[in-house]
Amino acid sequence: MKIEEVKSTTKTQRIASHSHVKGLGLDENGYAIQTSAGLVGQELAREAAGVVVELIKSKKMAGRAVLLAGPPGTGKTAIALAIAQELGSKVPFCPMVGSEVYSSEIKKTEVLMENFRRAIGLRIKETKEVYEGEVTELTPVETENPMGGYGKTVSHVVIGLKTAKGTKQLKLDPSIYESLQKEKVEVGDVIYIEANSGAVKRQGRSDSYATEFDLEAEEYVPLPKGDVHKKKEVIQDVTLHDLDVANARPQGGQDIMSMMGQLMKPKKTEITDKLRKEINKVVNKYIDQGIAELVPGVLFVDEVHMLDIECFTYLHRALESTIAPIVIFATNRGKCTIRGTEDIVAPHGMPLDLLDRVMIIRTLPYSKEEMIQILKIRAQTEGIQVDEDSLSQLGEIGVKTTLRYSVQLLTPSNLLSRINGKDAISADEIEEINKLFYDAKSSAKILAEQEDKYMK
Ligand SMILES: Nc1ncnc2c1ncn2[C@@H]1O[C@H](COP(=O)(O)OP(=O)(O)OP(=O)(O)O)[C@@H](O)[C@H]1O
Ligand SMILES: [Mg+2]
Repeated sequence: MKIEEVKSTTKTQRIASHSHVKGLGLDENGYAIQTSAGLVGQELAREAAGVVVELIKSKKMAGRAVLLAGPPGTGKTAIALAIAQELGSKVPFCPMVGSEVYSSEIKKTEVLMENFRRAIGLRIKETKEVYEGEVTELTPVETENPMGGYGKTVSHVVIGLKTAKGTKQLKLDPSIYESLQKEKVEVGDVIYIEANSGAVKRQGRSDSYATEFDLEAEEYVPLPKGDVHKKKEVIQDVTLHDLDVANARPQGGQDIMSMMGQLMKPKKTEITDKLRKEINKVVNKYIDQGIAELVPGVLFVDEVHMLDIECFTYLHRALESTIAPIVIFATNRGKCTIRGTEDIVAPHGMPLDLLDRVMIIRTLPYSKEEMIQILKIRAQTEGIQVDEDSLSQLGEIGVKTTLRYSVQLLTPSNLLSRINGKDAISADEIEEINKLFYDAKSSAKILAEQEDKYMK
């Protein structure tokens, strides 16, 4: 379906190094369990994140912001993704990196706005008048082309729908025939047709056909109960961005279209401010009427110091609007100059007035023991064998450098141990790999020592 296509691909890859994180790992009272759900230590930050999740779930957080601040490799990104896991699939979570806004094709604020709207969900409950059933016949009726010529056109479609209660034969408009073709409806499928809009939705194959040989994975659904013609409650979870896309390019996303289409005539356009305003208007109306419910999700802006003053100003204003998500920022910067300004130095590279309205969660450096535990979990998820001694050695390297550096040593060490004909990493490999690669700190030290040898 359309909604899936919209998702950008860069976002899944970033999560790969956090694939072991399954949640915040809190007990029922909200206290952090030392090692749970893939997370180790960092208890206070996890508990604070747990409070944020509760606030989001009870919808008391919209338009507010949280900042995860701490040195590199202390789990800020990991905790933000754990928040996403805790929120579940019903609450939208849109991750982005500050530097994503810089593109020569799209305006910075446009990127921000798009992500903003990806983070705001709408749960639409509609009672629709539908015709539902298993397709028993599907016959397009052709006539001579009224304009003359040799071609034939479809004048109408005859479709038979069967439910547990009875069968009905419908004569449908040719435009619905196109929708039927688009959804690839065949005899034996269970579908519903919306009476108002004529939108067709294929729910799956009727389970009386379940014995058929079928190469494609099919979803089998039972024969619908009740009458063919009935009222049906349909729940849809969409984001505002989905609505923008569906209305800018009305060929797809038929379901969303059908609800929006009743109020405005969609034209094939780009997503413009005007379109968004119009959609907001419709959305607000639906909320007032109780048809739709706003689900403020999370916009996660990692490396927030990469944003410039223009973006910050924009974000600040956007947070004030009535339809706003929760924004979670993360940064590893201390005091630094705000991008786009000459000399405004601010904590975390964020303007003070914005910083003033965020709640800050600090992450602290890990102890050697915690690093060893995290390394162990990482080795397990990557399917790498390491003995205890080597883990402790890696932990030591981690304390001297960063957690990320020592985690990154795992894969090349594993490769080397294979070459050496072992099936587990031992101290030798770690030592050798650690000699081959430099971490940021030692590289910077070498640079400082040999400054005159490098080009300026
Ligand atoms: N408490 C933790 N438990 C388990 N894994 C962790 C924990 N903290 C960090 N990690 C893992 O360590 C690696 C580095 O952490 P992460 O990327 O979250 O750091 P960060 O604070 O976002 O760093 P940076 O400031 O450089 O972006 C990741 O693979 C992450 O999943
Ligand atoms: Mg990070």
